[in-house]
Amino acid sequence: MNALDATRIRAHFDFPAAGRVVTNNAASTQPPRELIGLLRDLTPWYENVHRGQSTASRRTTAMFEASFDTIAAWLNAPGRGCVATYRNTTEAINAVMYSLLTEFRDGDNVVTTMLEHNSNYVPWHALCREILPRLGRRVECRLARFDADGQLDLDHLASLVDGRTKLVCCTGASNFSGTKPDLSKLREIADASGYAQPTGETRALLLVDAAQLAPTSAIDVRALDVDYLAFSFHKMLAPFGVGVLYAKQHLLDHALPFLYGGDMIAEGRVTPETVAWNDLPWKYTAGTPNILGTIASAQALRLLLDLVLPTAFFGGTGPLPRVAIEEVMARVGRHTANLTARCMAGLAEINGLQMYGPEHRTPLVSFNLGGVSPFAVAEALDRRGVEARAGCHCATLAHHALGLDPPASCRLSFALYNTTDDVDRAVEAVREIAASRRLVG
Ligand SMILES: Cc1ncc(COP(=O)(O)O)c(C=O)c1O
Repeated sequence: MNALDATRIRAHFDFPAAGRVVTNNAASTQPPRELIGLLRDLTPWYENVHRGQSTASRRTTAMFEASFDTIAAWLNAPGRGCVATYRNTTEAINAVMYSLLTEFRDGDNVVTTMLEHNSNYVPWHALCREILPRLGRRVECRLARFDADGQLDLDHLASLVDGRTKLVCCTGASNFSGTKPDLSKLREIADASGYAQPTGETRALLLVDAAQLAPTSAIDVRALDVDYLAFSFHKMLAPFGVGVLYAKQHLLDHALPFLYGGDMIAEGRVTPETVAWNDLPWKYTAGTPNILGTIASAQALRLLLDLVLPTAFFGGTGPLPRVAIEEVMARVGRHTANLTARCMAGLAEINGLQMYGPEHRTPLVSFNLGGVSPFAVAEALDRRGVEARAGCHCATLAHHALGLDPPASCRLSFALYNTTDDVDRAVEAVREIAASRRLVG
């Protein structure tokens, strides 16, 4: 089946020349040369946005603002008014938490899951255990469990949702087990809550952490009918520093901003008595934003299309056809799924190796080699030129739920530029480490 030409794609990156086997892509991906070049190309017109009459400022402002249109198109969002940028997924989820803080009523609850990255658990824990109690409000954070196959237990999650569930927060794909919860089922469960939102809606809001979903899937926020969705561009080829919060426009219209200050206020509408917010999405961009990072991030999406298809979207600001986005992400998904299946098949042959999570998953494999510290495994892999990551991957709850002590595993994760050769080298290196462990044992 037509996937993609990873060898051709690799020619756009510098890391292969360094001989690296980059298999830690769930943490961050590598930047293509064009994006680094783009930053250089922007510097002759380097200027701040929304605060200057110079050609340079107007030019930079136009590119910056168009970036929001690209991001909205990528997500099939109605428009730029649904897109706010932050530093990363973590900050985007915190923005939701702080925006909703005043809306929680005594006796409400938030439902999240044991599969979450700490980014989508700790803010809700802090809200319920640290912040709201100081304001005299009791709000409960409820955690849905996962089953022995690593699948989210949707029946358990549904049993936690009731008429006081203001918000259901769930990962789109776990960065530890690779589990991809059924988001349409989550929507149904959230709908069934019947919670009376201040906007007049009667259902729980649904927030999806798409940090691991967005890099290998086409996301259609309207089809998913999510209220909030967050992801980070540093996992999608762009340089570090920009994350996205998609939110339904009426929620952003209604909510309080997370950060207050310059640029998020309507021009000239500040008096000692009143302050009026700027139009969306600028109501949510207080202060000077990460201008170059935002432009590069939006261009990373356009370049992703060109890397996979013979298109020429990079460098432009025009519309992105939905069909191209879906075709490209289907190919990326198939390619990375094939690599993951090959990796799992290879690792399954190694005695004493335990993998975590279901068969169908996002492109990552977390495992432990019995009797060997996952940190020692990752270091031994690095000595063989293979980049992995050991730790709890911030999925601390899931590691504890599996009784892992220390709460850690070693993880290999794949991106569109990985090849079967990368997988084979990684699996062979793990096999060697397992064999040397037996010799030592
Ligand atoms: C599922 C998931 N959520 C959230 C995050 C946090 O992303 P960031 O560090 O960009 O805020 C990550 C990062 O690994 C992740 O994998």
